[in-house]
Amino acid sequence: MIIQDVELVKVARTPGDYPPPLKGEVAFVGRSNVGKSSLLNALFNKKIAFVSKTPGKTRSINFYLVNSKYYFVDLPGYGYAKVSKKERMLWKRLVEDYFKNRWSLQMVFLLVDGRIPPQDSDLMMVEWMKSLNIPFTIVLTKMDKVKMSERAKKLEEHQKEFSRYGEYTIIPTSSVTGEGISELLDLISTLLKE
Ligand code: GTP
Ligand code: MG
Repeated sequence: MIIQDVELVKVARTPGDYPPPLKGEVAFVGRSNVGKSSLLNALFNKKIAFVSKTPGKTRSINFYLVNSKYYFVDLPGYGYAKVSKKERMLWKRLVEDYFKNRWSLQMVFLLVDGRIPPQDSDLMMVEWMKSLNIPFTIVLTKMDKVKMSERAKKLEEHQKEFSRYGEYTIIPTSSVTGEGISELLDLISTLLKE
């Protein structure tokens, strides 16, 4: 897939506040600070999504219109300790509504930090998406920070953890080196057929 143009067309802060569905849609979810916005920028080859060192910056569902045809959706992060109970509830309500009602959604990319084992919140996310019948693919982020000597071990660890839930594709990526970006775009193009 060649991304010609990208535009942030909607920032949804309440359930149901989405743009009308188009031909296809993929979404990106993961813990706060895992690198969702950075990965989107790498896919778009454009600094359009907001990147921050402070976790929990993306609090809304952000719809990026790609090639005037598809939506790439940046979902708000989870698992950040300094978030109030009320905000957690709001997060759940917002994301659950999106998962349950967005029929044009074709795939969710679950971003997991490649440097550390999957956290409880990541595994809860897996179980939640499974229970809602949402198709998903695992994307390991920040692989540039994993030493070459530890790479195979880390990949195996992730494989093992996630295989307990089913058979999932795991794509190692880095927004810094560009690792996995073209692979991810290829996968997205097969999902979002013309
Ligand atoms: P929230 O929107 O706050 O949930 O965060 P996010 O998941 O969108 O993460 P974001 O892209 O804002 O990145 C968080 C931090 O991780 C920033 O300091 C990024 O520069 C850094 N980061 C993201 N991706 C990578 C990567 O592939 N490699 C390295 N080394 N750092 C990364
Ligand atoms: Mg973000």
